[in-house]
This record gives sequence, structure tokens and C-alpha cells, in this order.
Amino acid sequence: MPESIVLSPPPVFFIKSISEQGYSLSTAVADLVDNSITAGARRIELLINANVSPLRLYIADDGCGMTSEELTANMRFPSADLDAGRAGNDLGRFGLGLKTGSFSQARRFTLVSSKSGAPYQARTWDVGYLKKTEDWTLIIEEETATEKLLQDFAETSADFHGRSESFVPRTIVIWDDLYKLERLKKQSEINDELEELRSHLGLVFHRFLQAGKIEIRLNNSLVEGFDPFPVNATGVQIISEDYWQSGDTFIRFQGIILPKRAAIEAREEISVWAPPGKTLEDCQGIYVYRNERLISYGGWLRTITRTIWLQFGRLKIDITNINDSEFHLNVAKSSLKLPFGLKRAMAIMISSVAGQASKEYRERLASGVTRSNTTKKGLSLITRENSAAGPVLRISHDFELLRQLESQLNAEQQEMLRTVTSLLEKKLNQVWKGDTAAPSEIGEGVAEADRQKISRLKKYYEEAGYSADEIREFLLESFGQNNDVKTFLETLY
Ligand SMILES: Nc1ncnc2c1ncn2[C@@H]1O[C@H](COP(=O)(O)OP(=O)(O)O)[C@@H](O)[C@H]1O
Ligand SMILES: [Mg+2]
Repeated sequence: MPESIVLSPPPVFFIKSISEQGYSLSTAVADLVDNSITAGARRIELLINANVSPLRLYIADDGCGMTSEELTANMRFPSADLDAGRAGNDLGRFGLGLKTGSFSQARRFTLVSSKSGAPYQARTWDVGYLKKTEDWTLIIEEETATEKLLQDFAETSADFHGRSESFVPRTIVIWDDLYKLERLKKQSEINDELEELRSHLGLVFHRFLQAGKIEIRLNNSLVEGFDPFPVNATGVQIISEDYWQSGDTFIRFQGIILPKRAAIEAREEISVWAPPGKTLEDCQGIYVYRNERLISYGGWLRTITRTIWLQFGRLKIDITNINDSEFHLNVAKSSLKLPFGLKRAMAIMISSVAGQASKEYRERLASGVTRSNTTKKGLSLITRENSAAGPVLRISHDFELLRQLESQLNAEQQEMLRTVTSLLEKKLNQVWKGDTAAPSEIGEGVAEADRQKISRLKKYYEEAGYSADEIREFLLESFGQNNDVKTFLETLY
């Protein structure tokens, strides 16, 4: 036997590094919801009272629960062999999600469970305790402590309206010392995170939710499923399904193209086209479902590049956990790669979705909905006009991109943009006429439009902290070193 020593990882270092695997609050909670679904749960209750400090999050389900031995075994890092077979409906992968997902958000977490009517048992991993013991010491909660946890859960649930009396939790995961959420100072930021969580769960579990297989409640309010493939909505074009064979399994894929009106309707608070808080642009691309659970969306998985032109295109792929290693699924179940063979098999469908989607986008631009009155106007950035003093160049605000940009700005931002373009216009004309010297000294007063611009610019630059002299110099340089401008500037000071 060669000489050897046992070199175990220091628990705290190990936990910190393994838990930063690309989790957000949403993906971490989704990983625990996966566990609940795999455990056969029909109801999943998420509770967090954002008004109480310190924060605590409960994820409870009515699934099969765990025995005392199972509880201990499942708290281990990792709890299963990656290469061991998994049931076809298992949403787990590495035997890690419970631990890494929890530690990505919490410094302490407890797993409470009961199986077949046996008394509840609880186990806790606590970074503070691990630091002290410097070993992988799992806390076995005493009976009174376990009862206290169950009681706190019941009380938190009762604090929210609409408590459902019939819910009996079999398993509760409790996150304490929520160091990431605690960092958010404002209540509204915590609420935004929770809304993001609601939207994420509604999207990734929509097939389960919409088929009535499960119910998820966040603070006792039902999470609504959101289907990104609204194939029954009027105007949606469907590209017929195709498949790629990998060994004995068939991987199905299908594309859809949303109708033009989606672009406008998706801006509403609630629409069939985009989940709350997301735009059509965010939602384009390839959606990969693994055992009915959405694991990847919002991009084209390195097949083509996302652009505004493709916002009407979506494509879904259905895989099972048999395909995991081919797809290089990561621990957070949030990223994956398409196998080369599948990419090749999908090439035609991808290009037809992309082609149709960008055609739809072009037509939308051309349709009366957003387009300026005349076609030509929208195509020229610089136009030539005849003025009393001869031809001048103008930057056209009918230019399609400028018009679209403007339409997304508020009044104040529009004004700033107009000021910038008018300055550009002045420079442009000077350069065009080869007239880079100071403009004419013979003034006929400063035009009203210029007066307004000068006043506005002065205000912007003052707010930005420039000195009076710097602003004066800049305004003279921009509007002409002549006496009229000088006189007008005097009136402003
Ligand atoms: N809510 C739950 N109900 C019942 N069993 C659970 C629950 N959560 C986790 N488990 C058990 O703990 C194991 C470990 O979970 P996890 O660390 O997420 O790894 P994985 O899901 O990849 O197996 C699961 O395989 C399952 O047996
Ligand atoms: Mg899991």
C-alpha cells in the first residue's frame, strides 16, 4: 500500500464554494420545489414574512416525507451517486440541490419531516456551528426544538390571509440567516425579489400548475402558471414538430412565431405573450423542458444570436433525465449545452423560426402600428432642407431608430435627446459648409428655440456640477461666439 493521508475538505470553505453555482433566490427555491414534486407533493407552501427580522423562509410540501434515517442520509453532500439510475419522473440530478440551493441563500437551514405518521424529526446544517466544530457535524434537533419549528410555521401561515386549514406539511425546509436577502435594505427590494420568484416559479413549473398536478402558494397566494407557448392564441404560427434520435430516446422540438400584435400587448401588466416583468425580447429563443420542468429559456443556446429582430420567435425542446449528461446540465439546473447532433438536427427549424420571426418584425415596422407616415422619412437619418440662408442639413426625428428610441423615453429624456441632436445638427452644418470658424458676428438676436435650448442646457450642466465659466464657454462654443448669444447669456445670470 502506498503511503496516504485522509484529506477532507474544510466544511465551511467547501460549502461556500460549492454553493456559488449560479443560483439566484428564484433558481434555489425552484430546486427545492423540484424535490417536493419528485416526492409526490400536490401542494407546496412558501412562506416568508418580509416584515419580521431576521428573515426566515419556509418551503413546505405534502409529499411522501422522510424517515429519520432518510433525513440524515439526504443532508449529506452529495446524497446520491451521479451515475446511479433515477426514476423517470425524478427532477433531481446531483444529490446536491437541497444543500447547495439552501446554502446559496442561507447560512443555516433545517430539514423537518415525517413519514407515514411517525413523529416529525429535524436536521440542521449551520455554518456557524461548522466553524466551531471544524468538522461535518450535522445538528439533530431535539423534540422540543422541532415542535417549536412546526409551531412557528403554523403561526407564520396563519399570519397571512386565506390560510388553508387542510394543509398538513410532510416536509418543511427552513432557511435562516438569509444573508443575501438581508443585504437588501429596502422593503420594496425584498418584495421585488419575491415577485421575481413568483414569476419564475409560474414559468418554470407551468406545465405542472396548468395541468392541475400541483399548487404552489407564495404567502398563501396562488402562483399562476405561465405558458410561453400560447399555441391557441389567435395569429400564432406553429412550425410542425420534429425530432432527433439519441440512442433509444427521441428528443422532440417545435417552433412558434408570435403575431405582430404581441409586441404591443406584451407591454401590458398581464398578457399571454410575456410573464410579468419580462419583455418579448427577454422571452425569445429556445426553451428546454426536462421532465416537463422548464430549465432553460431566454436565449438561443449558442445557435444564433439574440436580437430585437427575433423577439417573435420561440422554440421548445423536450428532454428527460436520461439526456442529462449529453446536455451538461449544471448544479443549479439553470444552464446547459445542446449536443452537437441535436444542433445539427435543429438547424433547419431554427433558421425557419428566425426567418419567420424577423419577417414578422419587419412587417411590424412597416405596419401602421408604429411606423411613421411616409416610408422614405423613416429611412433617412439626415435630410436636406432649403432655408432662407440656403440649404441646411437636418437630423430627422422620423428616422425609424430615432423614433423608436424617442418613443421609449419620458418627456424629460426626449428633451435631452432633442437637445443633443440639435447640437449635432449645428456641428454637422458647420463641417458640411467647411465653416468651422466662429459663426457670424452680425446677430439678429437669438431665436426663441435657441433661447429655450440654451436655458435647458444651462440647467442640465449646472445640475451635473459644471462651473458657471465652463458652462458659458460651452454654450458660446455651441451657439456662436457672437454678441447676441453673449447678451442673452448675461440675462440668464
Ligand atoms: N421535499 C422532500 N420530500 C421528500 N424527500 C426529499 C425532499 N427534498 C429532498 N428529499 C430527498 O433528499 C434527496 C436529496 O435531495 P437533493 O439534495 O435535492 O438531491 P437530488 O434532488 O438531486 O436527489 C432527494 O433525492 C430526496 O430523496
Ligand atoms: Mg433536488
